[in-house]
Amino acid sequence: MNIAKALLSWVDERFPLTANWKSHLSEYYAPKNFNFWYFFGSLAMLILVMQIVTGILLTMHYKPDASQAFASVEYIMRDVPWGWLIRYMHSTGASLFFIVIYLHMFRGLLYGSYRKPRELLWLFGMLIYLCLMAEAFFGYLLPWGQMSYWGAQVIVNLFGAIPLVGPDISLWIRGDYVVSDATLNRFFAFHVIAVPLVLLGLVAAHLLALHEVGSNNPDGVEIKKKKDPKTGIPLDGIPFHPYYVVKDIVGVVVFLMVFSAIVFFAPEMGGYFLEHNNFVPADPLNTPLHIAPVWYFTPFYSILRAVPPLMNSQFPGVVAMGLSTMIFFLLPWLDRGAVKSIRYRGPIYKSALALFVIAFLILGYLGTEPTNVWGQFGSWLGGAERATVVARVFTVIYFLFFLLMPWYTRIDKTKPEPERVTS
Ligand code: HEM
Repeated sequence: MNIAKALLSWVDERFPLTANWKSHLSEYYAPKNFNFWYFFGSLAMLILVMQIVTGILLTMHYKPDASQAFASVEYIMRDVPWGWLIRYMHSTGASLFFIVIYLHMFRGLLYGSYRKPRELLWLFGMLIYLCLMAEAFFGYLLPWGQMSYWGAQVIVNLFGAIPLVGPDISLWIRGDYVVSDATLNRFFAFHVIAVPLVLLGLVAAHLLALHEVGSNNPDGVEIKKKKDPKTGIPLDGIPFHPYYVVKDIVGVVVFLMVFSAIVFFAPEMGGYFLEHNNFVPADPLNTPLHIAPVWYFTPFYSILRAVPPLMNSQFPGVVAMGLSTMIFFLLPWLDRGAVKSIRYRGPIYKSALALFVIAFLILGYLGTEPTNVWGQFGSWLGGAERATVVARVFTVIYFLFFLLMPWYTRIDKTKPEPERVTS
């Protein structure tokens, strides 16, 4: 014991280990009323680590070469000891990452966590989200299946719709006139090193910003406003360690149960996590009938397809798709509500948020279906044209949620926010 203490003080004299342990864990005071929605930050960190570890192991056997990539993935699945497990953990981890991040972001909308003083925390979060999308897009080309190939072709071609410079930008991204070995090599470089490095830096900035301002909570009350005059500790705060460490471990255990159930029993998730067409090697001479991105991109893909072309150019759709993700950056300045948390908001914000979620889910579903039918929706509504109208209406609702926010959050009839957190 004495040796351990002596070692610790030796380290502390040279590195602020105990000081950091205290300021970020045992003496970091978080609001005492965290609920279910506060599990997802720590789960996102867990998945990030899992993706990096399984990714490193996959890289040991994967070949970033157009003539060998597909076969190397099959080799990992069949011949590498436990390779199938590592690959399924990585592919399932990608989808679950987005589920966790969407829930994490939705919590922000529920409790107004993006509002002052957490604007920078939100902006770092949004940059993380953009990086995650880039990471998933680059990674998806690597198995070199039909969907990898044609998905990348479609998305890179979208840049071609930009007036004047578009075709050159597409060519520059691909490094060739079509998606090819050159594209695979650069996407590999971005996927395994460039984007993960940026992602890790942004997550560090996200957490530093969080610890600077402190967490929001389900009541939207700033706990730093009411401190014990003697100790200076927020009256509604509890030490992160051990209280929230233990709470987060419960979340981790439940998450790992769901994660294992998917990995072992439904890794393809009916074609949503691993698309059927991606079990066919990439064939540049054979375009699949229906090209769809993985589910987490489909709300934005629907918006792209819902916006009609202008003078034969897809540019308006591309702009709408870009804006549909970028507009989240503006949330801290669009929301003018008198209170932060949904608990004290009025009926208008609650309805607007509900409509937005419905629009996001329906657009997400429509994005998985070909536009000549738009799936089940098309048959219910009696034709693809009607389904296209539905896609357009929900696209408009999606944008109105943001664009009208400064107005409806101001006129909404809110309840008074309590002085202290409620339990
Ligand atoms: C790799 C991805 C991410 C990781 C590892 C991560 C991690 C965390 C952690 C550990 C927390 C504190 C615990 C919690 O509140 O759940 C947190 C809080 C927060 N995150 Fe993230 N995050 C990520 C992505 C994002 C994204 C994409 C956004 C939004 C665009 C975001 C916005 C926020 C906000 C607003 C808070 C404060 C919430 C509150 O106090 O109510 N994060 N994040």
